Amino acid sequence: MLLDYDGYISELFAPEDDALMSARAEMLRAAMPEINVSASEGKVLHLLARIIGAKRILEIGTLGAYSTIWLARALPPNGTLITLEINPQYAAVALRNLKRANLSQKVEVKVGPALESLSQLESASEAPFDMVFIDADKEGYPTYLQRALPLLRVGGLLLADNTLPDNVLVRGADSGVKRFNAEAAAHPDLITALVPVLRSRGIDGLLIAVKPGKR
Ligand SMILES: C[S@@+](CC[C@H](N)C(=O)[O-])C[C@H]1O[C@@H](n2cnc3c(N)ncnc32)[C@H](O)[C@@H]1O
Repeated sequence: MLLDYDGYISELFAPEDDALMSARAEMLRAAMPEINVSASEGKVLHLLARIIGAKRILEIGTLGAYSTIWLARALPPNGTLITLEINPQYAAVALRNLKRANLSQKVEVKVGPALESLSQLESASEAPFDMVFIDADKEGYPTYLQRALPLLRVGGLLLADNTLPDNVLVRGADSGVKRFNAEAAAHPDLITALVPVLRSRGIDGLLIAVKPGKR
């Protein structure tokens, strides 16, 4: 049988263990949409977190914690990840999946609209995050960019999924992702690239940006 390109990469570089397979199975059982990152993209997120030695990660958009598991597994023993989810039913599935992956101690799932959770994080004046991964409602992306940047440390990574939808190719079309891409590309406090990622059906994009320090 012929694999698709993403299947080939995932099988070789991002094989799923029981916890990741069960997480997807639980999401299917709960009739949740299949809009999690692929295994190959999860591995890229994991690798990026390791490369920068991330100890604190913020994720906006949890679903069933599939990407959360990939990211949290890159953390050192004292590392923490906070993930934001608006849907309490999805959050309940995410908590079960995290427990099965032995990650309950490292991961906090904050339930509610991301903008409210971000306000709480701003006023808590905690240590800045090493990495922020944006993967929630697409119209919210430009606002998440504005709100997440002050929470990111200098040298930290800002990542955003689903940044290459078809409508970016339509001149004059407007969307939250198009505005987000334009703002991230031109942002004076970011060095940004948009990397195409494979999906079983076509391609998508992962935006990767670093918040550079002064040289
Ligand atoms: C694409 S899914 C996240 C997928 C997940 N990151 C993964 O790859 O496994 C987007 C999630 O964002 C959540 N979401 C949508 N709008 C939100 C909001 N305003 N605040 C918080 N979460 C939101 C949705 O309920 C959904 O679970």
